Amino acid sequence: MIKRGELYYPTEEFKKNAWVSDPKIYKEAAKDPVKFWEKLAKDLFWFKLWKKGFIHKPPNFQWFAGGKINITANIFEKDWVVKKDKIALIWEPESLNEKSKVFTYQELFKEVCKCANHLKGLGVKKGDRVGIYLPMIPEVVIAMLACARIGAVHSVVFSAFSPNALKVRLQDTGAKVLITADSYYRRGQLINLFKNVEESIKGTKVKKLIVVERSNKAPWHKEDDFCKAVFMDSEDLQFILYTSGSTGKPKGCMHACGGYSVQAYWTGRYIFDFHEDDVFWCTSDPGWITGHTYTIYSPLMNGIATLMFEGVPDFPTPDRWAQIIEKYGVTVFYTAPTAIRMFEKYGEDIIKKYQFKKLRLLGTVGEPIDESAWLWYYKNVGKEKCPIVDTWWQTETGGILLTSLPGLGPFKPAFTGLPFPGVKTEIRDGQNGKHGNLVILPPFAPSLLRGIYHNPEKYLETYWSQYGKKVYFTSDGAIMDEHGLIRVIGRVDDVIKVAGHRISTGEMEAAVNDHPEISECAVVGIPDKIKGEVPVTFVIYKGARPVEEIKREVIAQIQKGIGPIALPKEIYLVEDLPKTRSGKIMRRILRKLFTGEELGDLSTLANPESVDKIKKLIYG
Ligand code: PRX
Repeated sequence: MIKRGELYYPTEEFKKNAWVSDPKIYKEAAKDPVKFWEKLAKDLFWFKLWKKGFIHKPPNFQWFAGGKINITANIFEKDWVVKKDKIALIWEPESLNEKSKVFTYQELFKEVCKCANHLKGLGVKKGDRVGIYLPMIPEVVIAMLACARIGAVHSVVFSAFSPNALKVRLQDTGAKVLITADSYYRRGQLINLFKNVEESIKGTKVKKLIVVERSNKAPWHKEDDFCKAVFMDSEDLQFILYTSGSTGKPKGCMHACGGYSVQAYWTGRYIFDFHEDDVFWCTSDPGWITGHTYTIYSPLMNGIATLMFEGVPDFPTPDRWAQIIEKYGVTVFYTAPTAIRMFEKYGEDIIKKYQFKKLRLLGTVGEPIDESAWLWYYKNVGKEKCPIVDTWWQTETGGILLTSLPGLGPFKPAFTGLPFPGVKTEIRDGQNGKHGNLVILPPFAPSLLRGIYHNPEKYLETYWSQYGKKVYFTSDGAIMDEHGLIRVIGRVDDVIKVAGHRISTGEMEAAVNDHPEISECAVVGIPDKIKGEVPVTFVIYKGARPVEEIKREVIAQIQKGIGPIALPKEIYLVEDLPKTRSGKIMRRILRKLFTGEELGDLSTLANPESVDKIKKLIYG
């Protein structure tokens, strides 16, 4: 029976086979988190064991210092005999007329080595940054692992980001090589990716391009199919991934080899309960952190099959995602609440015919899930037998930090659950530690970011200044219930989550303000039934040109600066924006015009009349 406000638990059958079914793991880990992580780390394959588990020199810290590792040796060499003929990667193309591709571990290894040798041939060495601008095709996995194999630092840029967004990231990394593709399919259309690239690399250090032709052999197909793994220090850079913050410039999150490997491996095993016959489908594009860790690294380190789908879940028919689950016998499915709300919108009839017999565990990530979407997922996809792990984490944390473990529960709709064993969190500033800002305390987590590339000041300011240098500030607001379960409510900074994608309103404003006739603008996120949040844009325009023309240009500015994922739901041309006497735009008030919340005292504004005018513009 499904009831609101209830706690849910795993079935006896699920518990019986789960990696974790005894809650004492929490106590044990809390007693000595460093020792706990060290014990887990020993299960990985190290060329040389570390000397010290955790070293803290606030705000900097190290994990497994002195250890030597390579994440690809943990995917391929570790347990090779058992794994080599097992399926590693299943690729489902968007078009139903095209054939899927399946790679065993051995086949994938050969491809990775060929690509690694190709990179070496171009002069790429340990520590060099390599840009990857690829869609959801197998080559994105191969390219990332090839970089890791030779110790190059990949920086993947989401393929729907604009040429400008790609350029900014390439410039920041200083990459000399970019791996990209000619095209990919999206909703039946062949998208020309390469046309973005030529423009993007102007003004960067990129000298060599590797272009994957979608319907041809990979550019590295003639290379030697073995390449030795480079020994990486635990604290060497594994990769850089850019994410949005409060300011206009994206931040390059730096992840370290040792800690990231340990966390990717163990969160997969404990949270997705990976067992050898699992077929895991994480719907995230590798351009985002979820794709890095859970489409690629974690399942492959655990020796299971990971599925990657080129297209979108509702094309060509609304039940495409359900067809894929059935076709490949997916056992663990991990997606974002936006996708679940979209499935729900299409109606139950569409999926009634699917039994999802093989599914045994579900996951969600990226944005808060509401109770009704959770219950729909539980009933219609999980058929009331699959636990749901609502996983909270960030690009910065590299791996999952909060969730209920599937063999233990409890699962409470709209609550992510408890900190992962060995992770210590607090809720600060609120009443009784039950409502406020979510922070993470030492020793944090092995996979927490080590810095912002080229920007130690920003690193200190963003994460280690609100509560001092020893406390990691997540920028998320949270509440805790009487069971200690945590619900993450959302960002307390200028970041919004649109369909689970992380977008900076500051970055959008910077793109719009580049327009020569726009003197000022404000972007706020407002609630949306399907996407969770969507941006709306207010623009001060005092010229005489037609409104529609300016709106089109605003859209073009955002397309150019960021890409289609950041397009605003609405653009309002206004005379003035509500401001404090010191000139600060009151975005909070603009947002409240859409949520129906009390606007509060407007008399402190320099221009309270602006609020009424905007209200009229919105509601007529
Ligand atoms: O606000 C939180 C939200 O997503 C933010 C991190 O976004 P990103 O770096 O793109 O990483 C997303 C995937 C790990 C967080 O600061 N968020 C992520 N997961 C959840 C969530 N909010 C509520 N519940 C979640 N499960």
